[in-house]
Amino acid sequence: MGMERSVSVTVENRLWFNAYREVVTETDNEPDWTLMEYLPLISSGPVLDLAMGNGRNALFFAKLGFEVDCVDVSKTWVKKCRERAKEENLNMHIYEARLPAFEIPQRRYALIIASKILQLLRVPEIQAIAEQIYSGLAKRGILYVRTFSVEHVKRSEKIPQLEQVEPNTYYSPEHQQTYHYFTRDELPSLFPKLKILYYIDGIEVDRTRKKPRYPWVIEYLGQRMR
Ligand SMILES: C[S@@+](CC[C@H](N)C(=O)[O-])C[C@H]1O[C@@H](n2cnc3c(N)ncnc32)[C@H](O)[C@@H]1O
Repeated sequence: MGMERSVSVTVENRLWFNAYREVVTETDNEPDWTLMEYLPLISSGPVLDLAMGNGRNALFFAKLGFEVDCVDVSKTWVKKCRERAKEENLNMHIYEARLPAFEIPQRRYALIIASKILQLLRVPEIQAIAEQIYSGLAKRGILYVRTFSVEHVKRSEKIPQLEQVEPNTYYSPEHQQTYHYFTRDELPSLFPKLKILYYIDGIEVDRTRKKPRYPWVIEYLGQRMR
């Protein structure tokens, strides 16, 4: 009685886990651990990494022998990834484009990765890209999302001081960038037809900067069943 439940099952196949995790991110170069853990469930088809940045996930999958498509708006990251792909003779197609304008091919992908990107888009853009992501997944294709939770805002002194430009979206003049923070049911609502394989909403330790940070992150894995 009165005890907080750490797991709640609201609808069939929908599990939400609250976690204060021991996960420590030490460098910006490793792939996301959850993707490594779920590797056996990923079929052998092509992989798409949305906003691949330095390519930590895209390069990991390409080195494993997957055909990898990736896209980023940054000329610098595109150039660097192209160099790495050439040096290591990897099967990668690297596009310079801005999401959500990049057109995702339909029913192509065994895996679509959206790690640390959705929070940088505005809500209508997120909705547009979510539709494209769903169409882009092949049967049994998996979507991986890593993003920030609205819980992070509640625990931050700085963020609530910023201008809120739409619900849970704040504009940082310092970075000239908006940041959207996701509620717990937002990703499941954006992908209602995907079966949730993994969902975590909790704090982890980020040691990629001099001073450790404790972001409240959401990680989501959903699978297209048909
Ligand atoms: C925080 S980094 C994450 C990079 C990578 N996904 C990762 O997990 O390490 C955000 C990346 O998104 C890219 N980016 C930001 N807005 C974008 C947009 N609208 N379209 C494409 N790429 C974008 C940036 O250039 C940057 O490489």
